[in-house]
Amino acid sequence: MELLKIENLTKIFGGLVAVDHLSFSVKKGQIYGIIGPNGAGKTTVFNCLTGIYKPEEGTVIWKGKDITNYPPDKIANLGIVRTFQTIRLFSDMCVAENIMSGRNQISKQHWYHGLIHTPFSKRDEKKNWLKVKEIMELMNLQDYATELTKNLPYGHQRRVEIARALATEPELIVLDEPAAGLNGHETLDLTNLIFKLRDMGFTILLIEHDMNLVMNVTDYITVVNFGEKICEGTPEIVQNDPAVIEAYLGKEDADDEGDEDEN
Ligand SMILES: Nc1ncnc2c1ncn2[C@@H]1O[C@H](COP(=O)(O)OP(=O)(O)OP(=O)(O)O)[C@@H](O)[C@H]1O
Ligand SMILES: [Mg+2]
Repeated sequence: MELLKIENLTKIFGGLVAVDHLSFSVKKGQIYGIIGPNGAGKTTVFNCLTGIYKPEEGTVIWKGKDITNYPPDKIANLGIVRTFQTIRLFSDMCVAENIMSGRNQISKQHWYHGLIHTPFSKRDEKKNWLKVKEIMELMNLQDYATELTKNLPYGHQRRVEIARALATEPELIVLDEPAAGLNGHETLDLTNLIFKLRDMGFTILLIEHDMNLVMNVTDYITVVNFGEKICEGTPEIVQNDPAVIEAYLGKEDADDEGDEDEN
């Protein structure tokens, strides 16, 4: 079953066509990769599909329904959640509170329930903390529950971000370069985690520059260059595609620095 379908997506900044009539679709249970050189438009696709940017053209279809231009909170409530290329956590909150902020994002509670402490709000709060505990155990973060996230090593902070995403009880988890800044050991942990999440029934859409990780975990890949799709297929097909090889090598010729710009 097609869970997410992007059709003819186009996003223009000033005169720059960041995403150019891009189409792809993600099936339920897939680990789907989006790759391409720096500045290819990958993050912009995520920003369009999570309601942060309005595309100039094209549609975002979720389970057969057109959700183009829905606001971010409505999209989160439908079951699409993302992490960011640059970690965005509440640095002065502890790990458990950060994960809880994901629960609050989808809470069905009305504001006045918190104010007057109805039985509903107490039950809901207890349920939410149990969920946070369960996620901390899954992500191996239980020993850091009361640590401020700013005091944690980078790799742990990345895990907290994914944990917060899980707290929204999503169906589709959209990860923007989750391995950025991770060491080899942490990247291996991430690989195992992605497989585990898929086994738990989540669908995963992944932007990643770490080619080992991408080729290892994904079922299917779309390659983007200058906002356009230049190839799609299994990791084997993509790896051997001349246009893909040229896009990457061409980039290296033009710019030898290992550039990692932040978004
Ligand atoms: N808010 C914005 N305003 C203007 N230009 C933007 C904006 N966001 C992105 N761009 C431009 O759109 C193009 C695509 O950027 P995007 O961040 O989507 O690339 P990317 O594929 O995610 O790159 P990277 O791998 O470096 O993260 C780039 O040229 C970028 O400078
Ligand atoms: Mg990006």
